[in-house]
Amino acid sequence: MYIYSICIIYLLAIAELSKGNTDCPCDAAHFCHCSSMHWEAIPSGLPRDVRGLNLSSNAIQIVTETDLKPYDQLQTLLLQYNAIHTINDGSFQPLGNLEELDLSYNNLVLLSSVWFRNLNKLKHLNLLGNQYITLGNDSLFASLSSLSSLQFGNQNFDAIQKQSFEGLERLNTLEINAAQLTLYEEGSLGRMKQIYHTILRVNLTLLPALLKDLVHSVTLLEITDTEFSTPADMQAFEVLAYTSVKQFIFRNCTIVDVSGYRFVEIIQTYRNITDVVMKNCRLLGRGLDCPNLKRTTSSVTTIIINNIEVSLYYIFSDLSSLHQIIPQFTYVTVTDSPVYLIPCQFSQSFTSLQYLDVSGGKLDNTYLGSSVCYHEGGGACPKLQTLNVSRNLLTSVPKVAQFLSGLNYLTNLDISQNKFSELSTSKCQWPKNLKYLNISNNQINIITTCIPPTLQILDVSSNYLTVFAIEMPNLTELYISNNRLSKLPEGMYFTSLVLLSISRNDLNGFGQSDLELFSNRTILDARANNYKCSCQFLDFIRSNTAVLVGWPDNYKCASPASVKDVQIQDANLPPLVCHKTLIVTLSCILLIALVAAIVALCHFLHVVWYAKMTWAWLKAKRKPLKNCDREICFDGFVSYSERDSEWVENMMVPKLENATLAMKLCLHKRDFVPGKWIIDNIIDAMEKSYKTVFVLSEHFVRSEWCKYELEFSHFRLFDENNDSAILILLDPIEKETVPKRFCKLRKLMNTKTYLEWPTDEEQQEVFWDNLKTALQPADYIN
Ligand SMILES: *[C@@H]1O[C@H](CO)[C@@H](O)[C@H](O)[C@H]1NC(C)=O
Ligand SMILES: *[C@@H]1O[C@H](CO)[C@@H](O)[C@H](O)[C@H]1NC(C)=O
Ligand SMILES: *[C@@H]1O[C@H](CO)[C@@H](O)[C@H](O)[C@H]1NC(C)=O
Ligand SMILES: *[C@@H]1O[C@H](CO)[C@@H](O)[C@H](O)[C@H]1NC(C)=O
Ligand SMILES: *[C@@H]1O[C@H](CO)[C@@H](O)[C@H](O)[C@H]1NC(C)=O
Ligand SMILES: *[C@@H]1O[C@H](CO)[C@@H](O)[C@H](O)[C@H]1NC(C)=O
Ligand SMILES: *[C@@H]1O[C@H](CO)[C@@H](O)[C@H](O)[C@H]1NC(C)=O
Ligand SMILES: *[C@@H]1O[C@H](CO)[C@@H](O)[C@H](O)[C@H]1NC(C)=O
Ligand SMILES: *[C@@H]1O[C@H](CO)[C@@H](O)[C@H](O)[C@H]1NC(C)=O
Repeated sequence: MYIYSICIIYLLAIAELSKGNTDCPCDAAHFCHCSSMHWEAIPSGLPRDVRGLNLSSNAIQIVTETDLKPYDQLQTLLLQYNAIHTINDGSFQPLGNLEELDLSYNNLVLLSSVWFRNLNKLKHLNLLGNQYITLGNDSLFASLSSLSSLQFGNQNFDAIQKQSFEGLERLNTLEINAAQLTLYEEGSLGRMKQIYHTILRVNLTLLPALLKDLVHSVTLLEITDTEFSTPADMQAFEVLAYTSVKQFIFRNCTIVDVSGYRFVEIIQTYRNITDVVMKNCRLLGRGLDCPNLKRTTSSVTTIIINNIEVSLYYIFSDLSSLHQIIPQFTYVTVTDSPVYLIPCQFSQSFTSLQYLDVSGGKLDNTYLGSSVCYHEGGGACPKLQTLNVSRNLLTSVPKVAQFLSGLNYLTNLDISQNKFSELSTSKCQWPKNLKYLNISNNQINIITTCIPPTLQILDVSSNYLTVFAIEMPNLTELYISNNRLSKLPEGMYFTSLVLLSISRNDLNGFGQSDLELFSNRTILDARANNYKCSCQFLDFIRSNTAVLVGWPDNYKCASPASVKDVQIQDANLPPLVCHKTLIVTLSCILLIALVAAIVALCHFLHVVWYAKMTWAWLKAKRKPLKNCDREICFDGFVSYSERDSEWVENMMVPKLENATLAMKLCLHKRDFVPGKWIIDNIIDAMEKSYKTVFVLSEHFVRSEWCKYELEFSHFRLFDENNDSAILILLDPIEKETVPKRFCKLRKLMNTKTYLEWPTDEEQQEVFWDNLKTALQPADYIN
């Protein structure tokens, strides 16, 4: 029992020890991801060459001098969201390569310059959200000669003192979070000559003092998380009349009517700031309390408002009192904001406006008409070149076109992501200089001549188009991605086209004839279609990749199944599929050759003859065997060739049949049953005769013997041992001249004595006697 407990404790200890190595995954870039793992100290046992270490969201409280000693390659050390309250003086000493250090949101009460002594490569330092209330009374950052971004401060941060910024000359980014700041030693931030981007969240009472020090060093000034509830709260920004600031940003701020108007008044004094930006701000009030605006021209020409919250927008005033300031604006963006109408008087005051973006608003057809003073006779935004009404509530393309037709300078129009579903079939009235039209992300299912033919760039992607066929001779870029097209549009309609984007459609493929009509400058983005990878298509597309955008990624086969989802570049079809014609031709040729060969072989080997014989044999086999009760009617069956018929019929037959002991011969001419197949007749005749007389002559061997050879070998009607065969040699035959395939005949001629027909008349008598004797049936002799 005791031993078991020890074992378990031991195992637990092992598990605990090895945790560091197994739970902290390190990637190929030597970055170890150890965040959110309940570490209570910096883990030991990490790879020594670790470059990055994310230890955020753990429970580390103390960083000791030995913790980081092994990791001198470390470039990034992230310790945010821990509970660090103590950092021993030399803890970061070994980290001479450190470039990023994040200590934000810990419990540090005091900051010490000793920590940073050796960090002369450090670029990014984040100290936000701890419990320190000052930066200490020595030069905290003096040794950080490479520092480019610095973030410090927290809810309780109290004092900014001059000595803290000693040694910091240039920063790219400075963020100060000090809403409760009570002490700002003047000139503290003035030490810095250049800060590109400054983000401030500070006590408004002290803001003027800070801004005074920053007014000549900052390019982007950002004020965040601040509420401006009185005109006095805006007072600080008066100092920015002459400044290095170009862009002035409010982020997550709350502005009430009166402070807003105060700010507008202040804007009027600006001589250097060009852009005023508001992001995620709230506008309280109803837009009343008109400011006292004089018609002076400030440097502000660009207003960018994004995601403004107007809680009372339905009773918000028409802002007409602002029309004094707006003629100076050339670039206005009010996106993701509740804009549903721009009052006509307002629009008419935008005399310099070139760019207007009200995307993500609430404009519908009617309000768009009013906003451009269509019914008031026009005159709205006379210099407007670009109008973005993307993501609004527009429904009718012809109406939009008509309302905007008075904007003579309008060249770019973005009406994407609205609610258009149909175009009119007749021509629409458009601004006469329109070059760019973006009508993507609507529900248009058919394209008509309502689209102005003068366009250079047209985007109708993400609609429901199935064909695209209108003539647009000046079009250089056409975007029809994400529709339902199954064919490329006709190239001859677009003689100037440079780019055709037709990705994510239903294209099965295309070929030379489809591309031919496009100009040779046209490139094609045809990714993510349902390509039917035929051999022809594969060949074609692979030899035309120069015109394809994004090749080879996302050019994949949808069919056939064997190459589904395979990149076209790597797709290989079986050769059988690709060379069908060749293969069919080849196999035909092969087949013909084979048939020819077989025919030749048959001819050569007399296969036809063998086949005939086999047929006869099969027939014979089916015939009931008559062997036992065979009825003998002839003494001999005479087989002879037609050439020898004279001898047989005129000499042999009379000699034998008219003799004293008359014999009965079977001759095919006389005794065969007409109509019966010759072979059957022969077999019958042989069966009905005691003997078979072969009248051999050269002609017989050549033309008649073949009928018997098979019978000898297969039918075994008679074998060599019985005497039923009688050979008469009419002419002398050289045995060698007998064809080899007649092996039976050769054998017979070897084993049997044959009767030779003599020329001498005396000998002929002997011949006849011999023949008669040979024809006597065996039993008869006995
Ligand atoms: C570090 O971890 C935190 C928490 O998991 C994560 O939000 C952050 O993006 C990580 N930082 C890096 C650079 O990986
Ligand atoms: C620095 O500040 C500490 C307390 O934060 C104080 O005791 C000390 O006197 C100060 N030193 C100087 C030189 O101001
Ligand atoms: C802002 O600073 C002033 C002057 O130092 C101070 O009286 C006031 O309490 C501070 N406001 C806040 C919210 O800390
Ligand atoms: C916006 O500012 C308020 C304080 O004015 C703050 O409480 C809130 O967290 C901020 N929101 C964001 C997203 O920063
Ligand atoms: C501000 O603009 C004026 C002219 O309006 C110019 O003379 C001055 O140099 C600019 N100031 C800065 C800091 O850029
Ligand atoms: C219009 O605004 C949308 C965002 O709402 C943007 O994606 C698009 O590029 C803008 N169009 C133009 C022409 O600037
Ligand atoms: C058209 O507008 C969409 C946003 O709605 C945008 O993503 C796209 O890039 C625009 N097309 C062109 C050609 O600018
Ligand atoms: C195409 O452009 C040319 C020259 O810019 C112009 O003359 C012609 O009218 C345009 N064609 C169409 C159909 O807009
Ligand atoms: C395109 O065709 C023109 C003639 O029609 C020829 O001069 C030019 O060189 C071709 N360009 C390319 C890239 O083939």
